[in-house]
Amino acid sequence: MTTRKPSPGKLLYAQSGGVTAVINATASAVISEARAHRIEVLAARNGILGVLNDDLLDTASLSTADVRALMHTPGGAFGSCRLKLKSLAEDRDKYVRLLETFKKHDIRYFLYNGGNDSADTALKVSALAEEFDYSLVCIGVPKTIDNDLAVTDSCPGFGSAAKYTAVSVRECALDVAAMAETSTRVFVYEVMGRHAGWLAAAAGLAARRDGDAPQVILFPEVAYDEDAFLAKVDAVVKSNGYCVVVASEGIRTASGDFVADAGGGTDSFGHTQLGGVAPYLAGRVQAVLKHKVHWAMPDYMQRSARHLASETDLAHARAVGRKAVQYALKGLNATMPVIHRVRDTPYRWTVRPAPLSDIANAEKTMPAEFISADGYGITEAARRYLQPLIRGEAYPPYGRNGLPKYLQLHFD
Ligand code: F6P
Repeated sequence: MTTRKPSPGKLLYAQSGGVTAVINATASAVISEARAHRIEVLAARNGILGVLNDDLLDTASLSTADVRALMHTPGGAFGSCRLKLKSLAEDRDKYVRLLETFKKHDIRYFLYNGGNDSADTALKVSALAEEFDYSLVCIGVPKTIDNDLAVTDSCPGFGSAAKYTAVSVRECALDVAAMAETSTRVFVYEVMGRHAGWLAAAAGLAARRDGDAPQVILFPEVAYDEDAFLAKVDAVVKSNGYCVVVASEGIRTASGDFVADAGGGTDSFGHTQLGGVAPYLAGRVQAVLKHKVHWAMPDYMQRSARHLASETDLAHARAVGRKAVQYALKGLNATMPVIHRVRDTPYRWTVRPAPLSDIANAEKTMPAEFISADGYGITEAARRYLQPLIRGEAYPPYGRNGLPKYLQLHFD
């Protein structure tokens, strides 16, 4: 973490990677805070791609009401991208192009709202600016429903996806319970999260007591063993009448192979496109155990469900946006505002700066003490960690047509 005396100039904000239900709340906070300091904010269209192509939007065209509406609008208002720049040596021309865009628009603050890959990009941009003696303060702003960023206690976006997951699993469990006597006995629900089981763990919050649904959670951190899984499901159906299974998209066998990938290849970050675990598991349950099965893959629904956002998560998303601007103005270069948990009960948190170098490219998976001894559930420690993150409701305003009033930006 270095302090760089900032030169007066504009602030560039860009969104990166998978968007969330509350990333626009961060954007809204960035714009409001910068306006309060009389700093002009440009937004890159489609993340770093917009910077490479000099495709920037002037947020001065947004009214105060638009900026407020961003706070309750899911998706990524300015467009996002999955574009990983290689090392400074390999992609030098691209980094130089970024710097040219910064110079052309007199950008002196760069806020990159993304995950660990984006933290890495922000760090490299900062190094190049230093090499070219261009005064630029680079800040990484956290977001990801996967909750896998290092250092921060949780990631904005996760709490809302976690709430959506826990609520949906509790509701679907009531459905299966009602149908089990003569129809569906097993329900399989798939969550995102790639290599980290945080969202799968959040499903565990749906259970009030031992034995409640979900009775089986499959984490990417625990090797998938089909015989053990089927035996467990069958035992739960026999004792309970029905079984709810939550499976992470990223579960792997003991040999390290994904149980299912979506066949979409890898993205620029080198991530395999996952998805399809639920129908696969449902097929195995049906074929081997002969129980009637339903399955669900909420996919983008879990990361865009702003109608079920967590109030805590929304507060986190706004706070990191505000702090990012404040750190930028203080010249806290190559940092990220991270959530620091002061205590679990009552839940207290603050935001503080952390060096981007501790966050870039690192991935935080579930600690072993959060997974129950049999590998199919969560522990009390996990509940204590997860519970505050889904607390509170933050409903968007609804129109007379019964639909949320989301902001749709139109740029030419
Ligand atoms: O945002 C992270 C994430 O939700 C992962 O869990 C998931 O695998 C991935 O994004 C899918 O995103 P996309 O296919 O839109 O790039």
